[in-house]
Amino acid sequence: MSTQTAESKRITTKTVLAMKQRGEKIAMLTAYDYSTARLLDESGVDVILVGDSVANVVQGLETTVPVTLDEMIYHTKIVRRGVKRAMLVADMPFMSYQTDIKEAVRNCGRMLKESGAEAVKMEGGKRIVPLIEQLTDIGIPVMGHLGLTPQSIYKFGTYEVRARESAEAKKLLADAEALDRAGVFALVLEKIPAALAAKVSRSVSAAVIGIGAGPGCDGQVLVTNDMLGMNEQFHPRFVRKYADLSATMRGAFQTYIAEVKTSKFPSKKESY
Ligand code: KIV
Repeated sequence: MSTQTAESKRITTKTVLAMKQRGEKIAMLTAYDYSTARLLDESGVDVILVGDSVANVVQGLETTVPVTLDEMIYHTKIVRRGVKRAMLVADMPFMSYQTDIKEAVRNCGRMLKESGAEAVKMEGGKRIVPLIEQLTDIGIPVMGHLGLTPQSIYKFGTYEVRARESAEAKKLLADAEALDRAGVFALVLEKIPAALAAKVSRSVSAAVIGIGAGPGCDGQVLVTNDMLGMNEQFHPRFVRKYADLSATMRGAFQTYIAEVKTSKFPSKKESY
């Protein structure tokens, strides 16, 4: 296959926007390591997100607040090696883009240069519009994130559904429109009422990717570890379990332990 053909099949910001325009749903999942990224890419997922949910599902932390920029760059770099076709997006962690705009631009540039991500994702509404304008102007594509924004957990105090009240719903729509005008190519809406998410999807030209935001979005995202059933403690209504890897992994580990203890493993065939 020529490079041209291979490249023309890669998912880019242009592809994502074209998918929205022709009504083709966009499938996005998270990855934090090479092996999972390779399986996702080979399965045909459109967008792979190295989410700061790495804090919860890989690092065992309660919130996404402590993850550092260096850790996000490390995980994105190893995911990059497994991705040939999907678009690769990396989350900017808390406090890597909220202070000085110059520092934020430099940090987003570091993410692209050092990790191989093709776009950055960041949480926030109108407040981050000047940053998004600068980033898109210098060629760094941005995916926004509104609704439940886990980096603000200490402000909101809960992971409950956001924007149920009309004032918050109005603000969310205005924020989405402001991010759209600033140039985001896509926008994650997390845990908001389905009717509001559908309205936002119709109102903006960016591709709207929902998580707990109903079927009216242009695409869907789930945390891969959750949809694989790897976290038995976490089962909110919006996570559909496509596998029960906890049970599969436990079973495999227990069988291995038993076989080692009873000298059934390794066999002669497995020895040199
Ligand atoms: O960090 C993450 O995985 C995310 C998704 C839930 C969208 O932001």
